Amino acid sequence: MSTVPVKPQVAAHVLRCVHCGKVQETADRMFHCTQCSELLEVVYPEWASAPPGFALRLKEIWRERRGSSLPENASGVWRFRELLPQVDRHNMVTMCEGNTPLVPLNKVARELRLPNLLVKHQGMNPTGSFKDTGISAAITMAKAEGFSWVCCASTGNTSASVAAYAARAEMKSIVLLPAGQVAAGKLAQALEYGANVLQLRTDFDGCLKVLHEVVRKFSAYLLNSLNPYRLEGQKTVAFELMEQLDWQVPQHVIVPGGNLGNSSALGKGFMELRDLGLIESLPKISIMQAAGANPLVRTMRENGGTELIRVTPETRATAIRIGNPASWRKAVTVLKNTGGTCEEVSEKEIAQAKAELGAEGIGCEPASAATLAGLKKLAAAGFVKPTDTVVLVLTGHMLKDVDYMKQLPGQNLLGPMEADGDAVIRTLEQIYARH
Ligand code: F0G
Repeated sequence: MSTVPVKPQVAAHVLRCVHCGKVQETADRMFHCTQCSELLEVVYPEWASAPPGFALRLKEIWRERRGSSLPENASGVWRFRELLPQVDRHNMVTMCEGNTPLVPLNKVARELRLPNLLVKHQGMNPTGSFKDTGISAAITMAKAEGFSWVCCASTGNTSASVAAYAARAEMKSIVLLPAGQVAAGKLAQALEYGANVLQLRTDFDGCLKVLHEVVRKFSAYLLNSLNPYRLEGQKTVAFELMEQLDWQVPQHVIVPGGNLGNSSALGKGFMELRDLGLIESLPKISIMQAAGANPLVRTMRENGGTELIRVTPETRATAIRIGNPASWRKAVTVLKNTGGTCEEVSEKEIAQAKAELGAEGIGCEPASAATLAGLKKLAAAGFVKPTDTVVLVLTGHMLKDVDYMKQLPGQNLLGPMEADGDAVIRTLEQIYARH
C-alpha cells in the first residue's frame, strides 16, 4: 500500500523547437518549427509544478501494472503513460511492445574484464526491432487525429514496424525504401503486413527527401523519427531499463546511431527521469557509427557539434547506412548533457563483435553489434572503467539480416555430404580432435 497520497495525472504536452525554443501546440505534417524549420520535441510544462512524492508514486504504479494484462498496462510503452502524451486508451495501438530482456554477458565480459556488462535486447520487440516502441506511440497519435494512411522512409526496420502497426490499427501504409539496400527479412515483413512498398533508386537520405514531397501532397501521417511522438515511445526503454536495474544508474549506455532518433530518445528518457527526481545521475550515453556512415563522429570531431557534416554512407550494416541524420542536433545535446562520446567502428570490427555476441547465444543484426565493437575502443581508451556497469542496446533481431551471416568468419557449416553414418562420424571425430 502506498503511503504517498499523490495520484499522478497524465500530463498535457506542448511541442518545443530544439533549436530556437519556440513553443507550439500543434505541428505541420513534417513536424517542423514554424519559426526556424528545425525539429520539435515533446515537453510537459506541468511537470515543473509536480507535487512532492509524484516521482516516488510513479515507481509504485508502474510496478503494480506489471502484473496486469490490460493492453495499456501490458505495453512496455503505455505502462509509463504518466510521462507520455495524454491519449484515450481506445486509440492506443499496442502489441505488448517493449518488455525486452536485459541479459548479462559472460564470455565477452570476461575477455574485456568488464564484469558488469549487459545487453538490453530491443530486437525482442514484436517486429524484431526497437522501432515498435516508437511506432506504437506515434501511430496512436495518428489514430487519435483520424488519419487512415501512414508513411515512412526506411532502411528496413521502420518499414516492418510501420506496416505491422498500421495493419493492427486497420490503416494503410506507404513505405519508401532504398532499392537493393534493405535486408531481406525486413522487406519480407513489410510485404507480409500489407504495406505499399516503393523501392527508390537512392539511399535512405534520398527516400526521406522524397517523403517530404509525398506528405505535402497526400494525407498520410509521417512516422519517421523526426516525428517527436516516435521518440516519446522510444524513450520508455530508459524507464524499463532502470526498473530492471532496480533504479541503480549504470555508468554507460551504448547505442548504435543512424538517423539518430534512438540515441536522442534514450537520452531524453534518462534526462526526464533525472529532472523528475527518479534517478540522481545520468549514464554516459555513447553513440556508435559505422566508419563508412559516420556523420555524427565527423561533426563532433571537426566542429564540436555545431554544424552537421553530411557524408555519402556505405556500410554492410544497412540499418545505419545514413549520411544526413535528421536528429543530429538532439543527439549532440544528449552527448553533451550525459558526457557520452561517439566513435566509429570498421566493417571488420562490427563483424567480429557480432560473431562474439553470437558465440554466447546473443543474436543481433550488424548495426546492433557496433555497440560492442565501440565498447572495446572505449574500454581500451580508459573511457569505460573495469568497475563500470555498461549496457549495450541491441536494436535489431539476428534473423532480420541472415545474408550478412554468410560472409562471417568461423562458420561451422559443413557439407552437403552423403547421408552416411560412417562419413558423419569421421567428420565429427575431426571436429572433436580440434577442441
Ligand atoms: N539499429 C537498427 C537495427 C536500426 O534499424 C536503426 C535504424 C538504428 C540502429 C539506428 O537508429 O536511426 O534512430 O539512429 N533504422 C532506421 C530504419 C533508420 O529505417 O529502420 P536511429
